[in-house]
Amino acid sequence: MYTNSIDITCNFAENYFMDINKITVIGGIGKDKSPEKVEKFELCMGNIISIVGPTGCGKTTLINDIELFANKNTPSMRTILINDEPVAEDFTFDPSKHPIALISQHTNFLSDLPVGEFLKIHSTIRGSENVSAMIDETLDFANQLTGEAIIKETAMTQLSGGQTRSLLIADAVIIGNSPIILLDEIENAGIHRTKALELLKNYQKIFVFVTHDPRIALLSDFRIIMKNGAMQKMITTSDEEKMAAIGLKQLDDIMLDFRKMIRAGEEITNDIFDKHINYLVTNYQYSLKK
Ligand SMILES: Nc1ncnc2c1ncn2[C@@H]1O[C@H](COP(=O)(O)OP(=O)(O)OP(=O)(O)O)[C@@H](O)[C@H]1O
Ligand SMILES: [Mg+2]
Repeated sequence: MYTNSIDITCNFAENYFMDINKITVIGGIGKDKSPEKVEKFELCMGNIISIVGPTGCGKTTLINDIELFANKNTPSMRTILINDEPVAEDFTFDPSKHPIALISQHTNFLSDLPVGEFLKIHSTIRGSENVSAMIDETLDFANQLTGEAIIKETAMTQLSGGQTRSLLIADAVIIGNSPIILLDEIENAGIHRTKALELLKNYQKIFVFVTHDPRIALLSDFRIIMKNGAMQKMITTSDEEKMAAIGLKQLDDIMLDFRKMIRAGEEITNDIFDKHINYLVTNYQYSLKK
């Protein structure tokens, strides 16, 4: 019933390990075994999409299918095509060249190597020309996503949830140079999400966000709505929704301000509250007129 309404012309990507230009997800069945309403969707380099829906509706399952290049061999019976072709079940990637990086809901580092060492090893395996510049760029990227700066000497196992997730994203984008990055609910990990999206938009990759965050959903090219294990609906972000995303950013900023005040031990008086709400309303109307 639903197929991509975005007019996708995939430009050939250069310098990728597999020359992935397009991924197609062909719908299978939901938990009740009935066919998915979204028959198929396509992702091209540069696309950012979101997967949304209530807890347990199958969001992680969908990105796992993508990561596994499912070929009717998972409970959902979905098929993933790369450049219009299915991936043979016995096809194996050189692990250092796997084109997909999955930042999962529960990723934790098992190694207690210092961060700098870990990045050095990964960067060397990937054949980087300037390892130390790669490490610095990765740390700089990660530190823009997390409130608490990560330093090279810290053991990986000592990183907080937010730091871990930030480092994994930065590592996948910069050192891994993975063309497809799947992010499962990074919002619970104390990451600066909108900053992440801003930074990620500078990279010509496919980003798939599983998210409960309305801003991420509305800043995506389109979103897939999941229900009962099935892709129920696909919505292309309209201009109206993009405007709403601007308003939501301002709401978000206000929330952030309140969070800061509360953390700093301040009391929220009527006056402070009203000032913030008035600022929000005026500012939003101003941005609508612009
Ligand atoms: N199409 C499907 N067919 C059969 N089982 C499915 C299907 N989709 C999801 N499931 C099963 O439903 C359960 C919940 O799925 P999943 O973990 O993907 O949900 P989720 O949306 O990621 O939940 P949460 O928001 O809690 O992370 C899992 O056991 C999964 O195997
Ligand atoms: Mg999940």
